[in-house]
Amino acid sequence: MPNYLTLDDVEVEGLDVLVRSDLNVPIENGEIGDDFRIRAALPTLERLVDSGAKVTVCSHLGRPDGEDPAFSLRPVAERMGELSSKEVGFETGGQITVIENTRFQPGEVENDPGYAAALAAGFALFVQDAFGSVHRAHASTVGVAELVKSVAGPLLDQELTALSRFLEDPEIPYVVVLGGAKVSDKLGVIENLLPRVDAMLIGGGMCFTLLKAKNVEIGGSLVEEDMVESVRALLEGPEGGKIILPSDVIIADRFAEHAEHRQVYVKDIPNGWIGLDIGKETAMLFESVIRTAETVFWNGPMGVFEWEAFRAGTEAVARAIVGTSAFTAVGGGDSVAALRQMGIDDAVSHVSTGGGAGLEFLEGRALPGVQVLERWV
Ligand code: 3PG
Ligand code: MG
Repeated sequence: MPNYLTLDDVEVEGLDVLVRSDLNVPIENGEIGDDFRIRAALPTLERLVDSGAKVTVCSHLGRPDGEDPAFSLRPVAERMGELSSKEVGFETGGQITVIENTRFQPGEVENDPGYAAALAAGFALFVQDAFGSVHRAHASTVGVAELVKSVAGPLLDQELTALSRFLEDPEIPYVVVLGGAKVSDKLGVIENLLPRVDAMLIGGGMCFTLLKAKNVEIGGSLVEEDMVESVRALLEGPEGGKIILPSDVIIADRFAEHAEHRQVYVKDIPNGWIGLDIGKETAMLFESVIRTAETVFWNGPMGVFEWEAFRAGTEAVARAIVGTSAFTAVGGGDSVAALRQMGIDDAVSHVSTGGGAGLEFLEGRALPGVQVLERWV
């Protein structure tokens, strides 16, 4: 575990406190999709208000190119106001004041010292609570924390404590389930976790690159050609036998919600057809492995779960995970969204607000936004 101070170590009454939360939620045409990150950020902010602090919260939202109103945090502040018993203001006023998207300023991602100083001005304490963003070395995650006394917020601390259990002394059997489109996003995690786990179940778009490395004909399925050699080395390496790949998949004649589709063994994928979910036999196998586990980490859907025809694999994994008495954590926006859609997110031991940040942590990499907190210990 990294070393940092928390809110338990400081007195905040009467202080102007700047909090960095991860309020990066999906927004389309001003409408918020899943507000999980807003809900997760609130307890820290409310605790600070109750302790007598004057609370300002900053965050990025999306990847805007300069000041773009489509990426404004205003709707997020409004939703926060609806969800909280505290008064929430946007830019001014409120017991909690949300300030505008830090990425509207070019100095944010450049971690420009001038912008960091402007952001920090007037604050006596900085609370880093944006677990989902601490893998970024930006002004609002690192720059500010170099200038103002800084502590880890409760959400960040909970996330690091929970995810540490997947690196340090996990109860066995220890099972990791990975999915999602790209194996390149997860190669570091596979490499770091494979020696620690008992089984690694891999579905989603990424499984086709692994199947290809095993010389399976994958038709028109998603493949990252430049990754085939690295994953072959892993599969043929000393721990490769722990990786469990699909034996059957749901294939479609095109990438579309209402495409023609059917279930086949992976050795029978016809030319041009694309795999969009794991098959039933695979789902049952994955479920049975998960059921025996004492520790389970899951990141990434098994298929295109937004579309009904390709949802069953992800749902089977989700149900198996909530059905165990194991310590379970789920990370990554899509897997968490699937759990929330099914209304079963409460049954997971830890639902992470982090996607990339959680993966980098499990890769064993230092998170710059956490590392910087050490100087205040
Ligand atoms: C995320 O959604 O993963 C975090 O909020 C970080 O966003 P970013 O990938 O745009 O830095
Ligand atoms: Mg992201």
